[in-house]
Amino acid sequence: MARTVCFISEKGGVGKTTACFEIAIALKRTHNLRVLIVDADYQRGGITGRLDSSLIKNFTAGSMPGINLFHKFQQLYSASPTTSGIDIRSSSFNIDFIPADPRLASVSEDKLPSGKTIRQNSELFFEHLMVIAKVLSGLQDQYDYILIDSHPEVSSLLRAAIFASDYAVSPVKLDLQSSIGVPTVIAEINGVNGDVSVMQSTLGTALTYNPTNFVGAIGMMAREYAGDLKDSEDTEYRRLNRFGTMFQHYITEGDGIRRAAQNRTSVRNIGMANARKQTAQVDAITVEFLAKCP
Ligand SMILES: Nc1ncnc2c1ncn2[C@@H]1O[C@H](COP(=O)(O)OP(=O)(O)O)[C@@H](O)[C@H]1O
Ligand SMILES: [Mg+2]
Repeated sequence: MARTVCFISEKGGVGKTTACFEIAIALKRTHNLRVLIVDADYQRGGITGRLDSSLIKNFTAGSMPGINLFHKFQQLYSASPTTSGIDIRSSSFNIDFIPADPRLASVSEDKLPSGKTIRQNSELFFEHLMVIAKVLSGLQDQYDYILIDSHPEVSSLLRAAIFASDYAVSPVKLDLQSSIGVPTVIAEINGVNGDVSVMQSTLGTALTYNPTNFVGAIGMMAREYAGDLKDSEDTEYRRLNRFGTMFQHYITEGDGIRRAAQNRTSVRNIGMANARKQTAQVDAITVEFLAKCP
């Protein structure tokens, strides 16, 4: 059985895509685990571009080849039979992925056909929440970890990603906004878990659902002074840790990751001192990740 982990934050530019990508590479390279990435970031598709740069032109033009998550939601909206197949792509990093599709921006329960009864409407609503989980259910034996990158916005798509996940992590910058953002993420996860139990009792479904477990925030782009976190960042780290939510290790701000992003590769492939430091930080976080998402 694969463990599914989503990467969530309510803000963009905090390092979500970087964390998801680098942890995926570390799981594969250092721990020899089988990894699938689901790119649900329809705004930027950053991981899709990194894993297969030839797809960038499709992404920019707004039409992706093959069958992806967009088509699965579309089947529900057009009341077509739902098919289980989806195109899995392989990459030169030995990581498989389901590419992002900019058309996922249109995913919304508002598009569902209206049922004849309240019960039918509730069932359709539940189907919508289950779209990603259903796609992943057929892939459980092929992977050890399935990582879902997301877009920074509370949406129906994000809720389907939370539903499909066993665990959630939140990459954060160590500033005041993240101290505020992390409880918001936790509330969103609790919201999905709560809705599922309401729907289960309303519909009397026998579905077994393990509530998604928030396992922590990961400090990204942390700034140090003389080998320790800068005062203001240390304050935020401690504040967040009061919720018991911080990964012990964090990634410092630096050119290694920036250079890696420019070259569409992993920081571990960059030959500079800062990249080696950041690679060691990624590795330490990945060890924690494995312990928190067993
Ligand atoms: N530790 C770091 N040091 C320097 N730049 C970083 C670091 N982490 C991420 N970045 C850069 O910050 C930008 C935003 O990161 P990204 O992972 O795309 O954030 P998000 O997915 O949350 O929008 C990217 O250009 C990325 O290369
Ligand atoms: Mg991103």
